[in-house]
Amino acid sequence: MVEFTLPANSKVKRGRTYKAADPVKNIRKFQIYRYDAESGENPRMDTYEVDMDTCGPMVLDALIKIKSEMDSSLTFRRSCREGVCGSCSMNVGGTNTLACIQATEEFKGDIKIYPLPHMPVIKDLVPDLTHAYEQYNSIQPWLQSDAPAGGEERLQSPEEREELDGLWECVLCFSCSTSCPSYWWNSDRYLGPAALLQAYRWIADSRDDKTDERLDELEDSFKLYRCHTIMNCTNTCPKNLNPAKAIAKTKKMMLERR
Ligand code: SF4
Ligand code: FES
Repeated sequence: MVEFTLPANSKVKRGRTYKAADPVKNIRKFQIYRYDAESGENPRMDTYEVDMDTCGPMVLDALIKIKSEMDSSLTFRRSCREGVCGSCSMNVGGTNTLACIQATEEFKGDIKIYPLPHMPVIKDLVPDLTHAYEQYNSIQPWLQSDAPAGGEERLQSPEEREELDGLWECVLCFSCSTSCPSYWWNSDRYLGPAALLQAYRWIADSRDDKTDERLDELEDSFKLYRCHTIMNCTNTCPKNLNPAKAIAKTKKMMLERR
């Protein structure tokens, strides 16, 4: 029988435990993935005992407290702390989410935190998003109109504007793409739900005149049609958006123009 195993240098080892200072009554343990490519060492899980009586309610509050008070080497991305910049996406308790809007009290027991799945890791909780951003760039995410810019607003009816709801709110955190098995296995050619939701955002915009060209660009067995409606993307989106619906609408437009 074939036996699958990780290469020795990929096995995640048990790391250090950082104890809370005595006396602390309300302790929560955070197990956090640590990896530093420059050290040449295997990844490890470090455990931090956090005093929740002096910690804010969100997972990001705990990470900031750990970095400030226990271990300054812990590395993660964050900026806005209110779910609008998309930079603090990570896997918390088995789900991709934004750490700044994810409450710790929603988890039972120890809280395990990993970087976004199936992405190269730069350090600790920081994935390398270069390829994902190249894919985003490939859908040309800007307004392309044949009408010259005349220094005036390009008007839309309320109904046309409504078409963009559920699309413009995307913060490009890539929680959806990195939860998708199709993206895990084919991310070299499949654009993934984040880039495809953004593609539809411009296809659906009444002010944009490149709808046909945009659809032509997506008419590809991998770029678009590797979506098999698994729905992980919609289930995990921390902004409650529906990338699977945007992809389905794009496929429908493909059919209707044939
Ligand atoms: S659709 Fe949701 S999960 Fe995907 S990138 Fe946008 S905000 Fe993040
Ligand atoms: S820090 Fe900006 S979305 Fe979390």
